[in-house]
Amino acid sequence: MNDKFYITTPIYYPSNKFTLGNCYTTVICDAIARFNRFQGKDVFFLTGTDEHGQKISLSASKQGKSEKEYLDEMIADAKALWAMLGISYDKFIRTTDSYHEKSVQKIFKTLYDKGYIYKSEYEGLYCTPCESFWTESQLVDGKCPDCGREVIPQKEEAYFFKLSSFTDKLLTLYKENPQFLQPQSRVNEMINNFLKPGLSDLCVSRTSVKWGIPVDFDPKHTVYVWIDALTNYINALGYNSEDDSLFKKFWPANVHMVGKEIVRFHAIIWPALLMALDLPLPERIFAHGWMLFGGDKLSKSKTTGSVECIDPRILVPEYSADAVRYILLREIPFGSDGNYTTEIFLNRFNSDLVNNFGNLVSRTLSMLKKYFGSVVPKHYVAKETDDIELQANVLKETDNVFKVMKDFDVSKALISIFNIFSLANTYIQKVEPWTIAKDENQKERLSIVITNLLESIRIGTTLLASFLPECSGKVLEALNLDKNALFANLDNFYGIEEGKEILPIAILFPRLDINAEFEKLARIMAP
Ligand code: ME8
Ligand code: MG
Repeated sequence: MNDKFYITTPIYYPSNKFTLGNCYTTVICDAIARFNRFQGKDVFFLTGTDEHGQKISLSASKQGKSEKEYLDEMIADAKALWAMLGISYDKFIRTTDSYHEKSVQKIFKTLYDKGYIYKSEYEGLYCTPCESFWTESQLVDGKCPDCGREVIPQKEEAYFFKLSSFTDKLLTLYKENPQFLQPQSRVNEMINNFLKPGLSDLCVSRTSVKWGIPVDFDPKHTVYVWIDALTNYINALGYNSEDDSLFKKFWPANVHMVGKEIVRFHAIIWPALLMALDLPLPERIFAHGWMLFGGDKLSKSKTTGSVECIDPRILVPEYSADAVRYILLREIPFGSDGNYTTEIFLNRFNSDLVNNFGNLVSRTLSMLKKYFGSVVPKHYVAKETDDIELQANVLKETDNVFKVMKDFDVSKALISIFNIFSLANTYIQKVEPWTIAKDENQKERLSIVITNLLESIRIGTTLLASFLPECSGKVLEALNLDKNALFANLDNFYGIEEGKEILPIAILFPRLDINAEFEKLARIMAP
């Protein structure tokens, strides 16, 4: 039996079309899911949409549509975007799916029956766009600490979840299992800002919000949108439904990937809910940083006046899904914030995809054609220092990819993979295969050099396949390898059979003229 691996993205609000920011988390999860599949694990990759709450109703009515009509269109657009980016999710959950709604009602009732939920009255400061209640002390300059907008006092009959009774249990969790939340700095934030001061009970129903899941035993209340949203991670697996085989197989999740602004919901409320339900906790919650655009968070609820192109629906058709995936995965140090600009994107396209990877593949395959008629030469054991060193360095970078991927560090993994390609390019410059080819007595050496290059491409591209599936697929196709055993030969330089014919392939990435691209994008984006 293979290991199982369950990974989730947040379920995004379809209150506007998804941004490059939403693509960021989704592409990271996709790369991690694919990497684990290549390792032979049984992977379940979940994504979806968070469809209840006032903000959604507002967006729908602005367009003169019913919620359902509005949402169906938004979800079609979201799914088209994920298809465009090659997102290999196993399931897409919508919180308006009836199996989810039924399970949320059951969960609410169970918590009520167990005495974890009770009825009282809520008075607080509410931020409508963020669907969050805040206390006076949490406000920043009297405004919502998340979005900086007005909060309004709101008072209503409400049900409460006894979150306060979980303070000690959560402190113990973080003491005994420091891996639970990463990066480590987030743990300190949870402990110092929320747990040490002591948790307050959480208001978990609204009578003022109509677009929500009704509490079945008191239907003028709807379930608080975060209780609704968080439980998607178990409901998607069939928790509370007749067929809960996926739940039995995949729960607990191996990792919930989230942006840093929603950590407290995942790292405090979610484990408390699971404890109350007597369910195992996820193995890990990973809080990644933000893509910064013009110094600010890319956010659907803010508009920027910049001419920068941040629309994946323009970037993907123009530059390929792989190019967009690459910049998202590579540019932002995983776990930290990072800047995105169109210029950074175009420059990386040229320097990494064209000059490094693409160039290595085309040079190598044309040398193979020229010197060996496109037939993989006989394997020999390397004897020259340069040849031995290349092999050792490539295998070292390979090990590093596996090491950093244990911590889901996709940006470091890509650095190592592209190091493999630059090692091979540097090797070409150093050993000059064209000089070796002129010497009749160096036939064996030429075989070794060309094999070294082919094998570096094979190893690097096999690793790259989780991150940039399209271009890697073309190269791996040309190398004609056993797709089911791609990860089997990552510790040696004998993965491609000798005597096999390998034909040159079309240019992987065309070199861009940056200024011309800027002009083109401005034209495309002109209203
Ligand atoms: O919070 N940089 O949904 P949401 C990096 N429905 N990541 C970004 C980003 C950026 N600039 N902008 C968005 C919600 N994201 C809730 C979640 S989960 C049970 C409920 C990503 O539509 C990042 O993953 O506001 C962030 O956490 C998520 O989108 C927020 O999506
Ligand atoms: Mg948000």
